[in-house]
Amino acid sequence: MTQAPTRTGEPKGFRSAELGWPELERIPHPPRRIPLLGDVVGVNRSTPLQDSLRYARQLGPVFRRKAFGKEFVFVWGARHAADLADEARFAKHVGLGVANLRPVAGDGLFTAYNHEPNWQLAHEVLAPGFSRDAMAGYHPMMLDVARRLTEHWDRAAATGRAVDVPGDMTKLTLETIARTGFGHDFDSFERSRPHPFVTAMVGTLTYAQRLNTVPFPLAPLLLRSATRRNAADIAHLNHTVDELVRARRATGGGDGDLLDRMLETAHPETGERLAPQNVRRQVITFLVAGHETTSGALSFALHYLSRHPEIAARARAEVDRVWGDTAEPAYEQVARLRYVRRVLDESLRLWPTAPAFSREAREDTVLAGEHPMRRGAWALVLTPMLHRDPEVWGADAERFDPDRFDARAVRSRPPHTFKPFGTGARACIGRQFALHEATLVLGLLLRRYELRADPAYRLRVTERLTLMPEGLRLRPERRTAVPEPASDLRRPVPGAGD
Ligand code: HEM
Repeated sequence: MTQAPTRTGEPKGFRSAELGWPELERIPHPPRRIPLLGDVVGVNRSTPLQDSLRYARQLGPVFRRKAFGKEFVFVWGARHAADLADEARFAKHVGLGVANLRPVAGDGLFTAYNHEPNWQLAHEVLAPGFSRDAMAGYHPMMLDVARRLTEHWDRAAATGRAVDVPGDMTKLTLETIARTGFGHDFDSFERSRPHPFVTAMVGTLTYAQRLNTVPFPLAPLLLRSATRRNAADIAHLNHTVDELVRARRATGGGDGDLLDRMLETAHPETGERLAPQNVRRQVITFLVAGHETTSGALSFALHYLSRHPEIAARARAEVDRVWGDTAEPAYEQVARLRYVRRVLDESLRLWPTAPAFSREAREDTVLAGEHPMRRGAWALVLTPMLHRDPEVWGADAERFDPDRFDARAVRSRPPHTFKPFGTGARACIGRQFALHEATLVLGLLLRRYELRADPAYRLRVTERLTLMPEGLRLRPERRTAVPEPASDLRRPVPGAGD
């Protein structure tokens, strides 16, 4: 299972499916396979995930795709995905898109191979940064950032303008992770264009996705100018992070945030600390992983709320009831928004914004009693399809219905059928952070605005390893009978520059 990079740059342990699956022939693949090229007819290089969803519907719960001589197995049937969640037999596989991020994120938490010692060290040093106490400490900062968003939306509402939902959610979530984790302010809401850090990040994610769509040895040649741009993007990300760390060292510490933990916390037993190069990788990891996916989740939820006024009304009634006329919700009042949380879960069911994760066999085994796998063989779990498996979610799985997440319905489903945050030891460390932030923000927006959709808009999903509703614009209208927390919502934001 070791996966150090080889001399060709490909992760060792990367097994094309022919090597890892002795009975590969039994697994269906798309029709019209072309020798050497593989399953390339009718695919779109910018939407590999949505292409896979299409094939999944045609080919069933376990299928394969081949591109440029390399074959991959995809899994989405609930029974098969549950089997892959067995930590005794399977582990995270760092492959495809994730491995392509290694040049920028190295052995940071998300991209580390299971055997790399820095994963365990960083996990133990950073996990307390996501404890309940830590989260309660982030809550006022999350409110400060949300206030910047509502100020921005208030201006749009006053003039009847539509807002760029994914753009604004990206500003919000970047500022939130930057402030709570690193005491940093990117001034996103003061900019008319995305912060250069965001542009560089989007560039790197898009490049990592494109690398999978060209024959591996030819990538440097075919993507020559993109490779050059990617190097510049990585240099920009590194530079931003180095400045941030330098500034923190110069001021001699923050208030115990993630960056303090990275720089100062020693492992409780070994006394070991994260090395400077690893700190750089962790900061980039958290800045990217900590905002891109939450931003998409909020955007999809707002899309569905705008399309389902009856669901929005029910969610809004809950916010009014639970928050009453409190100027600003306390930490504990966020988790009490049970229906809003269901709206979020249902959005993450249909569009889990990190839409796949890979699992590899720790030993020779048989997947769900059907498909033999050799040690090191791996498969991609296609979460949006797992979340639509009709055997679990019913024939109407495409329908948006937050009541699928009421407690009784959740209890009635088998385990491992809802996996937007991955699984096992390598599941998302920021899950509670994301859920708290997104529930809080949805609550604040529902309480303050009616969300008017453009009736002509049809959901289009853009892919850059993560998913985002493309071109989504909504017109926020201030509610007339809102419990008005006027004084607090106009309080200036410390350090925000206005
Ligand atoms: C809705 C929002 C989010 C979604 C859908 C999401 C999804 C995921 C998924 C699916 C994984 C596992 C990937 C794999 O198995 O290869 C993961 C891992 C991770 N996520 Fe998240 N995430 C979200 C928010 C966040 C936030 C807010 C943070 C940080 C503040 C974060 C930090 C991480 C890190 C560091 C890992 C790697 C954990 C490890 O391997 O030890 N994520 N996330």
